[in-house]
Amino acid sequence: MKFSVLTLFPKQVKDFLSESIIGRAEDKGILSIETIDIRDFSGNRYGKVDDTLFGGGTGMLMQCEPVYQAFSSLYDAEKESKPHCIFMSPKGSVLTQEKAKELSKYDHLVILCGHYEGIDQRVLDEIVDEDLSIGDYVLTGGEVAACVVIDCVSRMIEGVLPNSEAYEEESHMSGYLEAPQYTKPNIWHDREVPEVMLSGNHAKIKEWKRIHGLYDTWKRRPDMLSKLDISSEDWKKILDIEKEQQG
Ligand code: ADE
Repeated sequence: MKFSVLTLFPKQVKDFLSESIIGRAEDKGILSIETIDIRDFSGNRYGKVDDTLFGGGTGMLMQCEPVYQAFSSLYDAEKESKPHCIFMSPKGSVLTQEKAKELSKYDHLVILCGHYEGIDQRVLDEIVDEDLSIGDYVLTGGEVAACVVIDCVSRMIEGVLPNSEAYEEESHMSGYLEAPQYTKPNIWHDREVPEVMLSGNHAKIKEWKRIHGLYDTWKRRPDMLSKLDISSEDWKKILDIEKEQQG
């Protein structure tokens, strides 16, 4: 899968994504992440790509033409179809695990990052397929948000993680949060690993994880519960854990 990031700060994106799992997936050829410096398409000697706002207002706005030229450099419009283009914006729909999974099906994704006051709406209307936000807060630019999207989408692509179970069991994948996890030693600071984890009984362990995942979701993210259909037996088990925790 290929990501093309259109940005005024290519180094910020490259540096972040060249480390760890994503960096290794790139080395293995499973992913390719290219950054395109919008300033290279400024059309002037100074690399100027922004101007003041029509209608007043403070700050500068990125202009249409450099963004359009940078995007157009990514494909041959006569032979290829336009690649899917995402604009990182606090006005976009908020990224979810489900959205990341959907995006992982594309062969080529273009991610456009804004800076300053943003980008002239006309070029957005011309090239962007969807706006995405990474949360209800405002960042100084779209670069960090683009890195979040690339990280989250990439780990859904086969071969990036050691096995697909690595993400299938984790928080948000099944609609609820992941249960607590433990490793050696069995006892640390008088705290014991739950007995079932040492039992070797895989069915029991699976059930423990499911119920404790639901319990954590109820305690930490009750807003997620409305999308889950929890049976009365499961509620009883969840409330038993609560009693145990209180007791
Ligand atoms: N650019 C500025 N803030 C953002 C956010 N919350 N998500 C995505 N892009 C942004």
